[in-house]
Amino acid sequence: MHTKMFKLELFSVLIVLLLNISCSFAGAIPNKTPTSIGNYEYPKGVYIPSNFTIPDGNVFKFKLYLAGFVWKRCNGTSGQWVGDQYRSVYFNREEDIHLYPYSAVAMLDSRGAVFRSNIPKYDSSTMSFSCITSAPSYNNPTENANDELCLAKNNTGNGAFSDITYIILTEAKGGAAPPNTECGTKYPDGYVYSDVLTATILLYHRGTQ
Ligand SMILES: *[C@@H]1O[C@H](CO)[C@@H](O)[C@H](O)[C@H]1NC(C)=O
Ligand SMILES: *[C@@H]1O[C@H](CO)[C@@H](O)[C@H](O)[C@H]1NC(C)=O
Ligand SMILES: *[C@@H]1O[C@H](CO)[C@@H](O)[C@H](O)[C@H]1NC(C)=O
Repeated sequence: MHTKMFKLELFSVLIVLLLNISCSFAGAIPNKTPTSIGNYEYPKGVYIPSNFTIPDGNVFKFKLYLAGFVWKRCNGTSGQWVGDQYRSVYFNREEDIHLYPYSAVAMLDSRGAVFRSNIPKYDSSTMSFSCITSAPSYNNPTENANDELCLAKNNTGNGAFSDITYIILTEAKGGAAPPNTECGTKYPDGYVYSDVLTATILLYHRGTQ
């Protein structure tokens, strides 16, 4: 029940995102508008798959909370769901998700897979990434998107993303496609399945402690 309500709320919140409303609301709720990207407290008890290894010389920098949509398309010939599109926004605190759009600190530009600051007045950094290892979500792999270990690259600008080297996505809720056996059977070729996704993102940079 709670999950459903949360999902509906998130849904209406993200509709706004999908309409691509990018006007600045700064000033409307000045106390709630964040001025920096990142929550520097390591998430307690966070699950990281054992084969996700961050090379020595890189350390945790900050975490972010993700809320977004994923779309997967059924390829009836291969019987596989293929990633189609995704949209996501990032928050410093999980509870900030409900205060969107005032509270979002970053967003993902889906075409180029580029992280962009949502508060360019305070932080102009961007980065792209490519994922190198994935593992099934530890609690419910049929409903939740895979955990991902990704390499950050092409960092630009000044701010939180400027020196990021690795990214881990974990604690996903939602975002998995139906089983491949249902693609081409229950769901026809070309069917686009959409789901709401939330997750925790851990970001690493060069350092030794
Ligand atoms: C669907 O899968 C088949 C077999 O792997 C592949 O040849 C084809 O290009 C795919 N179609 C699309 C639209 O991706
Ligand atoms: C990492 O481990 C998971 C199981 O936790 C496995 O499914 C996945 O294939 C592994 N990835 C690599 C690259 O070894
Ligand atoms: C790096 O990022 C900048 C700014 O977003 C972009 O203009 C440039 O094309 C990117 N370069 C590569 C190799 O992705």
